Amino acid sequence: MSTTYSMLGGEGPDSYREHSKYQGALVIAAKEKINEVISAKLDIDSSLNLINVADFGCSSGPNTFNAVQIVIDAVEQKHKEKEFQVFFNDSSNNDFNTLFKTLPQGRSYFATGVPGSFFGRVLPRSSLHLGVSSYSLHFISKIPNGIKDRNSPVWNNEIHCSGSSEAVEKLYFDQYKTDVGSFLNARSQELVSGGMLLLLGSCRINGNKFFESVEGMMIDYIGTSLNELAKQGLIDQEKLDAFKLPIYAAQEDDLKQIIEANGCFTIEAFEKITHGKGEYPLDTNYLTLAFKASLGGSIAAQFGQDAMEKTYELVSEKTEEMLPQLAKAKPGIQYLIVLRRN
Ligand SMILES: C[S@@+](CC[C@H](N)C(=O)[O-])C[C@H]1O[C@@H](n2cnc3c(N)ncnc32)[C@H](O)[C@@H]1O
Repeated sequence: MSTTYSMLGGEGPDSYREHSKYQGALVIAAKEKINEVISAKLDIDSSLNLINVADFGCSSGPNTFNAVQIVIDAVEQKHKEKEFQVFFNDSSNNDFNTLFKTLPQGRSYFATGVPGSFFGRVLPRSSLHLGVSSYSLHFISKIPNGIKDRNSPVWNNEIHCSGSSEAVEKLYFDQYKTDVGSFLNARSQELVSGGMLLLLGSCRINGNKFFESVEGMMIDYIGTSLNELAKQGLIDQEKLDAFKLPIYAAQEDDLKQIIEANGCFTIEAFEKITHGKGEYPLDTNYLTLAFKASLGGSIAAQFGQDAMEKTYELVSEKTEEMLPQLAKAKPGIQYLIVLRRN
């Protein structure tokens, strides 16, 4: 069963559109390096009239529009007078309506939506020239066996892989390794030889635990708040026991090794990018809303809209109380990885 979750759609005050500036800042910070690598390393047939670009895990904007425009601008510096077709990919429960309604006016590309899991093929063989994927590769395709089952020795009593149990972490990591391998295999079939794949996102500094990061701490507060609601009888304990977020924050070296082991790509760049917004700001409202926009949808799907709203009231209180601890969180790495299809 797929456990893909969606960001909060629409254009409302709690939507991912409104609260994804942190994620959006990375591709802007990486723009110069993207220009440089595309200019030096993109190796596609210069007689082509049409260049195909795809964003894997596009959500409902506006970050995806910036990402594809940055890629197109970089290609245009090298290959003049081309037409561009952009494939916006996300899972089928993504808010594609908002994406299409808010497509930039005057854009210089044709737009197509491609629903489906990026762990499999979503485009025809050898049809893609450039792919990008930003803040999406930390999703895993399913929760490993045993993790959701209270009677299993590897039942995870937390809602995510915090790193506090080695046995649990190993299962999530194995799933992540399989999934990133599947993602790379699918892209390697879709991309033409010499085409490029740009991966952006965040990972852990080797040796750091996820629970030491701001993201890990915020998800812990969400878990604590859900437990509080279960104790009050406002949500079902069994449903909470089975509620696990399908995300895994890899260590830098592990991610590099998975790409190298796949063997379909040459790593043209593996850069740490100084993020436009640095670490998350220590602001209760900002943090609560950012984590509501990205995870609130899955909580509402499992426990209902009211319970989700109540959860985030508690998360806000907890975040305020824990600001001194959040200030001591260990930083992560924001990366740009550029791969060229062999
Ligand atoms: C945090 S959002 C990032 C959105 C956007 N790329 C950005 O940088 O703001 C991650 C996106 O990946 C999508 N996603 C997760 N698993 C997926 C899968 N297996 N196939 C396609 N999309 C997936 C989610 O639905 C979500 O829209």
